[in-house]
Amino acid sequence: MSFETLTPQAGGASASPPVPRTPLISSRLPEVGMTIFSVMSALAVKHGAVNLGQGFPDFDCAPGLVEAVHKAMQAGHNQYPPMAGVPALRQALAAKIERLYGHRYDADSEITITAGATQGILTAILALVHPGDEVIVLEPCYDSYGPAITLAGGTVVRVPLNPNGFHLDLAQLSAALSPRTRAIIINTPHNPTGSVWSAADMKALAELLRPTDVLVLSDEVYEHMVFDGETHASVSAEPELAARSLVISSFGKTYHVTGWKVGHVAAPAALMAEFRKVHQFNVFTVNTPMQHGLAAWLADPGPYEELPAFYQRKRDRFRNGLAGTRFELLPCSGSYFQCVDYSRISSLPDLQFCEWLTAEVGVAAIPLSAFYAQAPERPIVRFCFAKTEATLDEALRRLSRL
Ligand SMILES: Cc1ncc(COP(=O)(O)O)c(C=O)c1O
Repeated sequence: MSFETLTPQAGGASASPPVPRTPLISSRLPEVGMTIFSVMSALAVKHGAVNLGQGFPDFDCAPGLVEAVHKAMQAGHNQYPPMAGVPALRQALAAKIERLYGHRYDADSEITITAGATQGILTAILALVHPGDEVIVLEPCYDSYGPAITLAGGTVVRVPLNPNGFHLDLAQLSAALSPRTRAIIINTPHNPTGSVWSAADMKALAELLRPTDVLVLSDEVYEHMVFDGETHASVSAEPELAARSLVISSFGKTYHVTGWKVGHVAAPAALMAEFRKVHQFNVFTVNTPMQHGLAAWLADPGPYEELPAFYQRKRDRFRNGLAGTRFELLPCSGSYFQCVDYSRISSLPDLQFCEWLTAEVGVAAIPLSAFYAQAPERPIVRFCFAKTEATLDEALRRLSRL
């Protein structure tokens, strides 16, 4: 097309108006559609099913936390906070992490408040992963990791967790390391399987990575949901790992406020400096009154110290209820997810089984294949038990015929 044909015609009063046209674009994430969590939640609404699919509590947070945020708004904390987050909140987090895991992060240079863990993960990956780098994820894994790596121009290297219990398979991880490995993403307690890492697993990872420059992104959003008297193994408790890790957590999980989307990232100052370069042009800051409210709420360790027992009761209620069905219960040592093998009930693939379960039995679940690039052989679905006793009992009543 010549330049002339693009030039507006002189005296073009009679020319027809241009047809508005949205340019065709090529997708940065061609394989990504609506997440399975939204799909199953919509299906649950459509069929009036009990929604044990998406991972969020169906009960409210503590009224005192809402009051603390309300007070912050009334006190005029309604403008931009400092880029890294409200200092009082970062200081409270530094003290809490030191008390729980024995590692002191500097509140000024080593902790940043994020718009939920998901933003923390994306920002960390965009800050640290260069085009052509490899990033190892341990499958099954949370669904944001892969697209975040792709957006950074990195290559996702998938290493299976040991299918027998979904624990770290050190030999497979070791075999996947290459000179191009920039980082490994780990997650404990684990979504979707409820497995947890031990301190010995952390030591083994530290040893494996010792001769390398591989970074660790440690997704610890369920850090306060570890059961049966065990304690959470954080990378920050293992000095060698803490020195090469970004630790990500979420107030949404800890305080039953998933909709607030406030999380935090802790890392050595050199890593945090790079993280903040991206953070300031990504969200810049996270909403102010929530941060003040959370800072006040953190002063009392009670709410998070009670969380393991709180969720363990729900886990036990749910597991006991399922024990009379043909579902095979897989171990659940942490998180608020219970996985079950349904091979004694159906031979449907897991997505179709979840659709059937939602429509015909009235309970929504998430197929485990959603957490893999390629569907696993074992037929497993995930239930979320972060629900009221009434919701769990109604779900169990419906599932009891299986
Ligand atoms: C393992 C894992 N990481 C991160 C997130 C995201 O947390 P947030 O809602 O704070 O972004 C979730 C939420 O389900 C999760 O399960």
